[in-house]
Amino acid sequence: MTSIPQYSLTDEQLAIRDMVRQITEERIAPRAAEIDAKGEYPHDLRKLLGEQGIYGLAIPEEYGGTHTEEGCGTLTLNIAVEEISKACSSTALTLMVAELGTLPIRIAGTEEQKQKWLPKVATGEWSSAFGLSEPEAGSDVAGMLTRAVKDGDEYVITGSKSWITNAGIADYYIIFAVTDKEAKHKGISAFVMEADRPGFAVTSLEHKMGIKGSPTGSLSFDEVRIPAENLLGNEGEGFKIAMQTLDRSRLGVAAQGLGIAQGALDYASAYAKERKAFGKVLTEFQAVSGKLADAAIGCAAGRELLYKAACGVDRQDPGFGAMSSMAKVFCADHAMKTTVEMVQVLGGSGYVVEYPMERFMRDAKITQIYEGAQEIQRVVIARSL
Ligand code: CAA
Repeated sequence: MTSIPQYSLTDEQLAIRDMVRQITEERIAPRAAEIDAKGEYPHDLRKLLGEQGIYGLAIPEEYGGTHTEEGCGTLTLNIAVEEISKACSSTALTLMVAELGTLPIRIAGTEEQKQKWLPKVATGEWSSAFGLSEPEAGSDVAGMLTRAVKDGDEYVITGSKSWITNAGIADYYIIFAVTDKEAKHKGISAFVMEADRPGFAVTSLEHKMGIKGSPTGSLSFDEVRIPAENLLGNEGEGFKIAMQTLDRSRLGVAAQGLGIAQGALDYASAYAKERKAFGKVLTEFQAVSGKLADAAIGCAAGRELLYKAACGVDRQDPGFGAMSSMAKVFCADHAMKTTVEMVQVLGGSGYVVEYPMERFMRDAKITQIYEGAQEIQRVVIARSL
């Protein structure tokens, strides 16, 4: 599906898109069903994406990556997420989390912290995670209980986190913890915590409906000591750092949703051109071609919104967070709606694991939930009006 005029991309962006598309078709797509069936983290594909410089799209040039705000690096990054998501959401998530787990450092880190943590994520050698949610504090970030107490030149972290992407895989975690209970939002601080710190443990891994190749788990901190130099920004700036991160990273979820929808549409459309019923191919039935057309309309509209929002992030346009939320809501809802309909186009074949459609449908659902549920995005959007 390429005939609808699309957002104007630079030659460099088109070259990166084509490179990621080729890698996705040749190397990622053939692995996607197996990754899902085995619930297997794609170490091989992470190595490949690292070698091809694809994680570098999330990291600024000064720190070993290729991300430049002048060239709208957020758009280029999300084009890559979109392409990979057409075949494998779990692999796309390794790239999304490379952004999510480094943005707090990019936003609030010192030069020394950036030099220490970012270059190895750019090559794929290290992976990161974002530890914000807790058992009793998902949407309500300020309700977190994990605390960090200053002790000399260290902080001592005690508490737990849940729903953490990359649990057990990450080499370091961005941990948000309360340093001043009375100050509410202004009493939360952000830290970088290495995965090998004594007292830290991954306590459980979830068995999920989709994105099965990406581990999601709970973390516990039993008086974990980290050096004070691992604090990001100043004490009390954690809530703001988390919000500023999510304003940007939610576009990754939008790109993932868009890629899933486009991947499902591409597959269903090819299937419908071949499959015959009542002596005609399915595309000759308006009940089927109408579903394909609706899916294409949503992908085209979602792409414009996503690409516009991505450039808005790099330009720091006023209200770019609300635009991110709009793109996330639209693309995630479109992914869910489209995958349900594309399963219907395939009929029984859409419901079995021999075809990718039921996986697309299961993977689509998380885009309506993580990095801020759709309901929270609407809060952000409504507050901006
Ligand atoms: N940028 C900068 N500052 C911001 C901000 C933003 N986007 N949003 C809010 N703030 C500031 C406000 O200006 C306010 O500052 P002052 O105190 O100085 O006035 C302060 O932060 C508090 O703001 P609110 O009163 O708006 O805060 P709230 O408690 O009402 O929460 C919320 C707002 C939008 C609901 C927020 O809590 C939120 O985004 N929740 C969802 C969290 C989320 O996305 N979680 C997913 C975690 S990541 C994940 O999914 C895990 C994974 O591994 C994939």
